[in-house]
Amino acid sequence: MKHKIFAANWKMYKTPQQTQEFFKKFLSYDLKGDIFFFPPALCLSSALDETKNSNIQIGIQNIYTKAEGAFTGENSARTAQEMGCSTVLVGHSERRTLFHESEILSEKLQYAQSLGLKVVFCVGETLEQRENNQTEKILTEQLQSGLRKAQAQNLIVAYEPVWAIGTGKTATSQQAEEAHRFISQWLEKNNFQNVPILYGGSVKPENAPELISQPHISGFLVGGASLDPESFKKICSV
Ligand code: 13P
Repeated sequence: MKHKIFAANWKMYKTPQQTQEFFKKFLSYDLKGDIFFFPPALCLSSALDETKNSNIQIGIQNIYTKAEGAFTGENSARTAQEMGCSTVLVGHSERRTLFHESEILSEKLQYAQSLGLKVVFCVGETLEQRENNQTEKILTEQLQSGLRKAQAQNLIVAYEPVWAIGTGKTATSQQAEEAHRFISQWLEKNNFQNVPILYGGSVKPENAPELISQPHISGFLVGGASLDPESFKKICSV
């Protein structure tokens, strides 16, 4: 039986009040598997309060590479950990594209792991790169660069093809499985054993069952469909 992981990336959606309302409903469901939520930083307190008597893990969407200092606007991983966060998201394509993050990702990852935090590290190619047959090359570069200071323990990788994020255009289960198999082989070759690989990109209750049946897909990183308790519950029930 596969050990499944379901993660919700809320991006910059929901207020503290909406966070409370979401969890009041979501916690009434009886769900198995590891479930993570990445709410906006300003909703972490609400999410942590609401989920404190549950098995749900709360993570932060972005951290800086230092515990503290003159870094206006940044989030400290140490502070997030003290609040009760267990996990950090690193390398999301929106951080790579909108905030031009690349070299800094391995430092963020290393710093989070040095505190004992788990990291969900995201990789994925653009449509242009896929059409130019560069998917494996891009995945290799992102893994090599982002994981150069990483440990296998407390690491989860998420494959999120950029062209499938928020577009309603999911990778077919075959496309996803091929990329997951490639990532899995790369991880094993580079001494990262037993690292779960999540799929992300327009995951919905309708396509989740077929995707999860693929051998190298351990779970999902869900954006839009995680904002509604009922629809995320269905995804977590596959
Ligand atoms: P969507 O599920 O909205 O496509 O977002 C995926 C994602 O970016 C999760 O991190």
